Amino acid sequence: MVVEQIEKVLMDTLKEMSMDVDSIRVILSNRKDLCDYQCDESFKLAKRFHKSPLEIGNSIVEKIKERDDFSDIFEKVECAPPGFINMTLSAKMINDTLEKMRTSKKFGLKEPAKKETIFLDYGGPNVAKPLHVGHMRTAIIGESIKRIFAYAGHKTIADVHLGDYGLQIGEVIYGIQKENLDIETITIQDLDRIYPAMSALCKESEEIKEKCETITKELQEGNIEYQRYWKKICEVSCEDILGIYRYLDVSFDLWLGESDAYPVIPETEEIFRKKGLLQKSEGAVIVNVSKETDKLEIPPLVFQKSNGAYLYATTDLATIVDRVKKYHPDKILYVTDNRQALHFEQVFRASELAGIAPYEMFEHLGYGTVNGTDGKPYKTRNGDSPKLQYLFSQAKDILISKKDSNETSSEEDINRIVNAILKFADLSNNRERDYIFDISKFSEVVGKTGPYILYTYLRLDKIIQDTDIENHKLGSRIYNSYDRDLRLKLLEFEIAFHNALEARMPSYIADFVYEICVLANAFYQNNHINGLEELEKKKDWVALLTLTNQMIQEMLSLLVIKIPTVM
Ligand code: ARG
Repeated sequence: MVVEQIEKVLMDTLKEMSMDVDSIRVILSNRKDLCDYQCDESFKLAKRFHKSPLEIGNSIVEKIKERDDFSDIFEKVECAPPGFINMTLSAKMINDTLEKMRTSKKFGLKEPAKKETIFLDYGGPNVAKPLHVGHMRTAIIGESIKRIFAYAGHKTIADVHLGDYGLQIGEVIYGIQKENLDIETITIQDLDRIYPAMSALCKESEEIKEKCETITKELQEGNIEYQRYWKKICEVSCEDILGIYRYLDVSFDLWLGESDAYPVIPETEEIFRKKGLLQKSEGAVIVNVSKETDKLEIPPLVFQKSNGAYLYATTDLATIVDRVKKYHPDKILYVTDNRQALHFEQVFRASELAGIAPYEMFEHLGYGTVNGTDGKPYKTRNGDSPKLQYLFSQAKDILISKKDSNETSSEEDINRIVNAILKFADLSNNRERDYIFDISKFSEVVGKTGPYILYTYLRLDKIIQDTDIENHKLGSRIYNSYDRDLRLKLLEFEIAFHNALEARMPSYIADFVYEICVLANAFYQNNHINGLEELEKKKDWVALLTLTNQMIQEMLSLLVIKIPTVM
């Protein structure tokens, strides 16, 4: 909002000087001691008009100062060698903009020029297999990106895309039959035990693995007995998965899976066949997706195995056929581990070759691995990938152990804090990078953590409540540097939000909310509102803190974090 206004001032000025530009870029200053915002257009103009950037910069500054409304907008504008235009905003400009933000929905965020339908594929849990920390990443990164798109004004459709038809199902059916268990009374504990045992067994014995593969293939072909087993396994497993998503406050519009792609495979195959894209290779059916311009070789996509079974890529392609037909998405985004990048590259290329959907419609949003303090993928002490519930209870135990014994929190509040601990730690990292899972650090109340943000919010809320001043508008004054710094930070909302949206990186929002909290803490530690005699000042500050908290709350909701009532 503010950047746009300054850009307009600069463009108007250049027009008056007969140096018209189509667009101009004003950025946040990285020298806050010198100015609030900066522009480096003088360098481009210098080339165009064969003058030095300093000369151009100075003349622009002089021209801006001639404006009647100069002092309404700026406190100071200077040209700093070698030619940067440094701008410091006036109190009026800051407060008027904040007041507009305060009284508008979503802080005055503009609706998108074109409202798009964004289809998001995240979560991707595998039925019958315990969810691990990677599944938490896809769930919360995906949910956060979905909320960011929705907040921006787009239509979102989220699909969990269950892994519900793969080899693990054959393995579990084999295990259940081997143990002679009654499928109707199977429990999640049974599945949690059988899957790892069978998976280990298949690694040892090629014969058993083949048996499990045959079961899987027959299931996919519609074997009635196996279908009955499969339905029950899905029912039990999905109940457990839903419980985890409920705990994480993650939800989906569509609860579909790989199995739902099977009915679409014949149609998909036909599309590829008609285009002449299917080739036989060592008994398998493949699609060549390499390009001459490839620097790294992209291997062919395997459409069908030599035993006739379809694969992960096939179901992903059939799923695209279905999604395009039913939901007409403008974009389809996939949130998975970075290691699936090649798979998606193959799928996106194949989809474009077959004319199903253009390559640009797709984005694979990869994320890094969660490591232990030893730098290796996070494991429990006995070497297993920890189940998600284990992580939740671990965070909960640490939280409770850190609390003063006389404090009591409701179960709901504790769960919200646990969520904040895990989600803030995850989402505040650039999603593509690995991070170290250090639950003790994540649950500290100081530092860049979820509890720190929650604590700041509750602290501000208490200060506001104690004054009994409600819903006052922002005044025209700024009282000191703590006050000014906080106000300027709130103005950065639109920049932070757009960065997050464009890069599909919730970390921009996490950074922003953290920076607000740092400044809000400095503000209230240095400005004691409750002892204040001056009513005007008190009202101004309450209005500022109210806006601050509203911003924190909405940003946290984009990070899928809810605020507890007490901590
Ligand atoms: N089930 C998969 C896994 O655990 C993730 C699914 C991602 N989505 C997709 N359309 N391939 O790796």
